[in-house]
Amino acid sequence: MNVTDTQNAYPFLQQLTQAFGPSGLENPVLSLLAVATQGYADETYRDTLGNLYVIKRGTSGKQVMVSAHADEIGLIVTFIDTDGFLRFTTLGGVSVTNLLYRRVVFENGVSGVIAVEKLDKPGDLSLEKLYIDIGATSESDAAAKVRIGDSAVFVGEYTETQTRVISKALDNRIGCFVLSEALKQVVSPHTLVFVFTTQEEVGLRGARPAAYALDPDWAVTVDVTRTGDTPKSARMAVRLGAGVGIKVMDRAIVIAPYVKTWISEQARKQQIPHQFEVLESGGTESGAIQLTKSGIPVGVLSIPARYVHSPGEMIDKRDVASAIALLVALLQDQAGPQIPIY
Ligand code: CO
Ligand code: ZN
Repeated sequence: MNVTDTQNAYPFLQQLTQAFGPSGLENPVLSLLAVATQGYADETYRDTLGNLYVIKRGTSGKQVMVSAHADEIGLIVTFIDTDGFLRFTTLGGVSVTNLLYRRVVFENGVSGVIAVEKLDKPGDLSLEKLYIDIGATSESDAAAKVRIGDSAVFVGEYTETQTRVISKALDNRIGCFVLSEALKQVVSPHTLVFVFTTQEEVGLRGARPAAYALDPDWAVTVDVTRTGDTPKSARMAVRLGAGVGIKVMDRAIVIAPYVKTWISEQARKQQIPHQFEVLESGGTESGAIQLTKSGIPVGVLSIPARYVHSPGEMIDKRDVASAIALLVALLQDQAGPQIPIY
């Protein structure tokens, strides 16, 4: 498994990243995924939170949940002023320093630019001082195009080199891409339930009822993680291109040692490039899955990404190839993680 094996699938990643899908409005993304996975699934359905389930049946009697969130961070309109400027709040972890003069687009195609009031002190940047200018001439002109509660996402075009991809929303369309590619390749004794979840960025929400409904024997989540390989970045051992990340910990989970062992043993046996990941800020929906019902064994494959939650997130295709290969190996493993008898 190398980059060339999956190279012809990348136009689908482009489509996924450019689709509109802030938390709560994931339908455009989920529609693309439903169509792409159709020929490989025994059953497909949605639930009340909008999560998309794609099932491939096996005969072992075990059920495995595989999840990736489909939503992306965004902004939501709170107020329209008399001159037609839009005030907004954030949907998910959007840093104010990432916002100034960014282009944004609403679901209906209306686009705008984020600008700022005159600041008393330079560096006095805060959410309250920012507004979206959609080029409206008045409050009523703006209100005809955008309503209170409408969401916008970053504009962030997709560019690709031999080894790397830059785009908005690689968090976590790259995870969705890894799941869809694994689904095409996998031949497993287990019943695999691929869940493309909603509302992760606002608090790991979609995955929670999905895990409750399925109560799987074990689960694997795929999401991005940060890196420590850019100028003066925080100290972190994860590097772009050094292989799929095997999560040890983030702010929502400590991976059970027997799950970590299971995953790293598979990576070692299959000679898949991998690196251990400790993420000091942010969490993944694995944290919600783990705490469901009487507790669910869950592991996480992480795709190293630079500039997470910006319009220009960057990943390495070699890490993606490693993630797909390791996910397939895990799903094909007859035994799965061995829950210790305490
Ligand atoms: Co995120
Ligand atoms: Zn994510």
